[in-house]
Amino acid sequence: MGNRKKYYITTPIYYPSGKAHLGHSYSTVAADVMARYKRLQGYDVMFLTGTDEHGQKIEINAGKAGVTPKEYVDKIAMDFKNLWKLLEISNDKFIRTTDDYHERAVQKIFRMLFDKGEIYKGKYEGWYCTPCESFFTDTQTPDKKCPDCGRDLKWEEEEAYFFRLSKYSGKLLELYKDNPDFIQPEIRKNEMIKFVESGLDDLCVSRTSFSWGIPVDFDKKHVVYVWLDALTNYITALGFGSDDDSDYKKYWPADVHFVGKEIVRFHTVIWPAILMALGLPLPKQVYGHGWLLFGNGEKMSKSKGNVVDPIILCERYGVDAVRYFLMRDIPFGADGLFTNEALINRINFDLANDLGNLLSRTVSMVEKYFDGVIPDEKREGNVDLDLISMAKSIKRDYEVQMDGFKFSSALSKLWLLVSRCNKYIDETMPWELGKNKENYGRLATVLYNLCECLRIISILVEPIMPGTSKKMREQLGLDEESCKWELAGEWGITPNKTKVFKGGALFPRIDTDEEVKELEKLISCKSPEKESKTADNLVKLIDIEDFAKIELISAKIEECEPVKKSKKLLKLKLYDGKLSRVVVSGISNYYKPEELIGRTIVLVSNLKPAKLCGVESNGMILAADCGEDVKVLFIDDIPPGSKIR
Ligand code: ME8
Repeated sequence: MGNRKKYYITTPIYYPSGKAHLGHSYSTVAADVMARYKRLQGYDVMFLTGTDEHGQKIEINAGKAGVTPKEYVDKIAMDFKNLWKLLEISNDKFIRTTDDYHERAVQKIFRMLFDKGEIYKGKYEGWYCTPCESFFTDTQTPDKKCPDCGRDLKWEEEEAYFFRLSKYSGKLLELYKDNPDFIQPEIRKNEMIKFVESGLDDLCVSRTSFSWGIPVDFDKKHVVYVWLDALTNYITALGFGSDDDSDYKKYWPADVHFVGKEIVRFHTVIWPAILMALGLPLPKQVYGHGWLLFGNGEKMSKSKGNVVDPIILCERYGVDAVRYFLMRDIPFGADGLFTNEALINRINFDLANDLGNLLSRTVSMVEKYFDGVIPDEKREGNVDLDLISMAKSIKRDYEVQMDGFKFSSALSKLWLLVSRCNKYIDETMPWELGKNKENYGRLATVLYNLCECLRIISILVEPIMPGTSKKMREQLGLDEESCKWELAGEWGITPNKTKVFKGGALFPRIDTDEEVKELEKLISCKSPEKESKTADNLVKLIDIEDFAKIELISAKIEECEPVKKSKKLLKLKLYDGKLSRVVVSGISNYYKPEELIGRTIVLVSNLKPAKLCGVESNGMILAADCGEDVKVLFIDDIPPGSKIR
């Protein structure tokens, strides 16, 4: 056991800033497929995934949800773990960057780099928006207004630590040249070469403007800025920088980091440079896969509201169908469109018709003609030899594709055998043979050959559809011994007199039109945006006394005009039943002043005054976030000044 070859594979660690979606599932399923495949081949595998939990965005989201950042990430990290369980992800470790051991190791790494002179203290400069706590570059803000809130920006300097990334350009280019497989696919490599050739700036690795991060232990007002914290997970998870670094010694360097194409840069520029600075070995490969795109061609992401919930998909079709679709429909290095129809078509054609039918027909015939016992006749003619030679060679073809992360091609190779088997049934017409006892010898050979092919298919399909593989073997009555990986390349392994067991359909067929309608209904009423605001138990419950602190009254809009110097703000003059007051509201993208004048709205009347773009606001009007739109709550039939409770 000790001498087994090692294989270390990772996924990105995901931001728990929203729900885990099908895009995250895509990378994780792919890494799982590879991990399972290598384990089946006899490798000693380490498969790591996790969550990247620090940073300002998480701090802000937690604030919105009314919970602490830790409470916030605890909940979402748990959701990620549960989703991976549902998707049968076989990760060996799950790292959270808030884990103590990671935090300590990052502090150590930061100090090591500082002591070596690889990190130095400098100044971070830019256009700063104080309320949003964000820096912007000249190009991001041509008008020097905050792109988020429209307020005026100030030129600010913030003390920060920097990593000497710029000095690694030459070494990185050498690395790419000497190791042509380091960045794959080729298109990503060419992008990175161009990027590095254009010159690198030093990298800001600490911030003082927010606090949700790992403190720099020798300069406590700084927290480690996200990428140094995130990338080092790949070694800290193995115990680097802790008392027990045996896994690090055993598994590092990683064989491959699977990442989405948008973060290839971080993994092929910053990460190797950090490792070079630390004097550590580099990962063997970074593979930047493509994006799952949704119907309108946009990247699927948390912020666009077009997320297909993997939980719903698994509930409706089963985990294996979802895993199969993700690996089959989209070549791994390329972008691919996700549509409900494409998913259902794959289920109906590849899984229900081709594979499911093949198994059920074969098992049924063994039951019908041979009382469920696989016959051991082996008198082969030409048509058999053609099938058998294909069956014996499919493992090799499949492995070539899998080794290059060409999951889709690996599956299409395997399905050549599935199709060949179905054609073989048409050619041999076993139902005709079954009409006459004299032909039972031939019939026995045909059915044996089909069972043997199905055995091979059940082995090769296991990394992608572990549950289906198990069901197939149960129906074929096969034990583990006959289903070892190496035996996928051997013929004649199914033992004599094996008893089959007819089970349910592997994949029930789906009525496409009906299902597409159903699915779209489901998705539109279960958009993740809505969910995170309502269903999430992240929302902190309050007492009635807390609610009573907020004074809500009806107020009529008397005047309304845009606030000068702002793109988003409107200045409203409101009559609250006794007096008039000015309130500023960020709704000018949604309403024109004339649409508001004369209308009655809900006013938070006891909010402390605040200055927005130079105008004092005395209260706040209520509006609802409706997807991309914002709608003010109008209550025109209620007289101004009425208390709302
Ligand atoms: O970038 N199609 O986290 P993240 C395919 N924390 N893959 C997708 C996808 C899509 N539409 N959407 C997301 C981060 N992904 C950092 C990583 S690593 C040290 C730190 C997958 O939550 C894909 O793998 O934004 C992508 O790179 C990753 O999720 C981004 O996840």
